[in-house]
Order: sequence, then C-alpha cells, then structure tokens
Amino acid sequence: MAEEKFLIHGGARLEGQIAVSGGKNAAVAIIPAALLGSSPSVIENLPDIEDVHVLIDMLRALGAKVEFSGSVMRVDPTTVDSYAPPARLAQKMRASYYLAPVLLGIFMRAEVPMPGGCNIGTRAIDQTVKGMTLLGAQVDTIGGVINVKSDSLVGAEVYLDCPSVGATVNTMLTAVSASGTTIIYNAAKEPHIVDLANFLNSMGARVMGAGTSIIRIRGGRPLHGSNYTIIPDQIETGTLMIAAAATGGDVIITGAIPTHMEALSAKLLEMGVYIREEDDLIHVRSNGRLRAISVKTQGYPGFPTDLQQPMTALLTVSAGSSVVTENIFDSRFKYVAELERMGARIRVIDNTAIIEGVERLVGTSVHATDLRAGAAMIVAGLLAEGETTISGVAHIDRGYEGLDRKLHSLGALIERVPE
Ligand code: EPZ
Repeated sequence: MAEEKFLIHGGARLEGQIAVSGGKNAAVAIIPAALLGSSPSVIENLPDIEDVHVLIDMLRALGAKVEFSGSVMRVDPTTVDSYAPPARLAQKMRASYYLAPVLLGIFMRAEVPMPGGCNIGTRAIDQTVKGMTLLGAQVDTIGGVINVKSDSLVGAEVYLDCPSVGATVNTMLTAVSASGTTIIYNAAKEPHIVDLANFLNSMGARVMGAGTSIIRIRGGRPLHGSNYTIIPDQIETGTLMIAAAATGGDVIITGAIPTHMEALSAKLLEMGVYIREEDDLIHVRSNGRLRAISVKTQGYPGFPTDLQQPMTALLTVSAGSSVVTENIFDSRFKYVAELERMGARIRVIDNTAIIEGVERLVGTSVHATDLRAGAAMIVAGLLAEGETTISGVAHIDRGYEGLDRKLHSLGALIERVPE
C-alpha cells in the first residue's frame, strides 16, 4: 500500500456532531476470545481499523471463517485447525499475543510470535507468563516465540505485580479454559477489561469483579458463540474532545460513555473548557486561551497514558507551565521533538515533561512516531498556524477509524494525500 500523509491547514474551528467508533482495545481482546466458542459469534460496533484487519487475517490463517462488513463481524471458530499464527501478521500488533491463551485452551498448546505494537517503551510480558504458568501452562519465550503448552489447566490465585492490561486479559482468557476458580489480584480495571468479561459471560463463562482490582473466574468450557456489541472507544472519544478544545470548537460527541471519560473531563474543566454530559453524548465547547495544568498518567480510572500525547499537544499553547508525568510507559515522550519543531517549548526530565505554553505553534513537516503520537500531531496541526504535514499515517490508521474523515466533517481542513 502506498504511504500516505495528512495535510492540515490549521486554525479551523471544529463544530458539529460526530459519532465515536467501537473500542480498539476491547475489539482486539474480544475477537480472539470468540475462538473459544463452540459455535459462531457475531460482534457488533467494531471499529474499521488496521489492527482489526490484521486480526481477521490471523484468524483466517488459523482456519476460522470470518466475515466483516460495516462494523459487524461474524467469527466461525469451528474450523480452526492451527495453533500457530503467522509471524508476519503477529508482529504487526500488540494484541496478537491474546491468541496464546485462546489457542492453549483449544489445543493445549500454542506458538505465537512475540507481539509488535507501538514503540513506547518496555513492554514486558513477565506477568502474562506468570499468570499462565500458575494456571498450569509451561511457557517458554526463547527464539522470539511464545511457546506454551499444558497437560491440564487448573485455576489458581494470581497476584499481578502491576495492573497490566495485557496480563489481566491473558490470565482471564487462560482461566476460562481451566478447571476450578482463578482469582486475579491487582487486575487492570480498564473499560475494555470489563467489556471482555461481559463478552465471555455472554458466551457462558463466569467472570466476576471485572472493573475492580479482584477478578474471580470460575473456569470450565465449553463456551458457546454469542451476539455482542462492544463499547465505544474511550481514547477516540478523548482525542475528539481534546481536538475540539484545541480549536476553540463546539462539538457534540455521540455514542460515547461519559463515565469512561471522567479523568479527561476533569482536566479539561480545570483548563477552562465547557463540558456537558448527557446519556451517551459529550458536549465540548471552548473559547479563549486555556489554562496550564498538571497531568499524571495512571491505570483506569486515572488519566489514561493513551491520551497523554494528544493532551500534551494541547498544553503547548495553554497559558502557563504544565507538568505531564508519564507513569505507565518509560519511553512515551519521543514525539515531543516533533512538537518542538512546531515551536513548542518542552523540557523532558526522565518521565516528566514540563511545558511552557507558547502563544502559537507554526505548521511544518512532522512524523507520527506511533499511534497516539499521531493523534498528538493532528491536534498540533489543527491548532497551529499555517500548514502541517504529518507522515507515518499508517500508525494512525492502525487505531483510529477514519479520524481524518471525522475531523473533516467537523470543519477541519485536513486532507489525506500520497507521500
Ligand atoms: C494496553 O497495552 C493497551 N493496548 C495500550 O494501548 C495501553 O497504552 C496500555 O494497555 C495501558 O493502558 C491494548 O490494549 C492492546 P500493560 P499493554 O500491560 O497491555 C508493564 C494504544 O495506544 N508490564 O498494561 O501492553 C509494561 O512494561 C495502546 O492504544 C510489565 O512490567 O499495557 C508497561 O510499562 C498503546 N510486565 C506497563 O506495565 C508485564 O507483564 C503497562 O503495560 C506487563 C506489563
């Protein structure tokens, strides 16, 4: 596929109404989980993004029958005949390793190449290995492949050293195929963990406590196929809210879950943005210069690391000095150099960025170094003077459904052009 870039003419105010797509990080856990059913599942409200297409290719390579049209996917797992997804696909995304516990449950063995995904720092898998091992699997990661097998999976108590999203998902997915009860302590509480639990329960599993730090899973298959609608994307919602605030806009985001957005909404209110929430909509309006704030990323319900980058872009032009502390990933400030090329004044010391708000950014050529860095470049381009060119659009397409199209419909002067 030819490389593409975004051209943004900054300064246009975003106005109007826009619907948010289904959640990426929920989708990439729920689609592999559908393989655990003894009959087909239909999953609705899926985002049409590159990560979902890569997963479809992986499921087909494993023998599943998959149809995807609009936002609806039908997965027939009854023809799955392989426990080893191809490396060239698995390495394209982080969530490919969710196939390891799923295939382990089906075949009692799996060979899944080490996952890829955004380059944002250390992305260890020791807690996943711990969870699966405690449940009776032998896991070996020599040679860049997660090799896992078991004679019998039995529920256990698993204390996670950190509330890792990936380890929580992988331990839940192993536990539903184990006999007996598994208890995960210090589990991640993200909305997509709850969504995965709800999907598994709709297939006949018994997962309790998701959304708190203790999850109890009474294992035991068979599970059956299910018809399920996934949650809206928390990070797309937040990106649109930040973009609206950055342009002094007046935007209503529909199909969202406002309670998932509390950490961001609180920070935007502190900056002087007007926010109104009602049922599934969030109304964001701003005018005038916003105030500097401090932000610390944390697991849910704290401020999400995935919004740290677009939020920093907004803070580059807020009045005063802001402090952004990144507590989840150890290398999620690489994109700061790109913002500096547009005139931002940012000093990074270890995991903290100190941002001195400037009057304006000026458009230039920048690169999206990863998915959410891409969102940051878009926010910067929207609020900058003049023209911004963003390369590395493939990163953005991995995780946002038609973000350029959605912003364009709100009045942004954004075009997708060949590199
Ligand atoms: C998930 O990544 C998301 N990805 C990320 O979204 C998100 O940034 C992250 O959770 C945090 O919310 C998916 O859901 C597919 P973690 P994940 O395991 O599961 C350390 C995006 O932009 N850790 O919670 O990889 C790890 O090194 C993406 O949409 C261990 O030490 O995140 C990291 O510092 C990017 N050992 C921290 O925990 C482990 O075994 C958080 O990792 C696992 C993790």
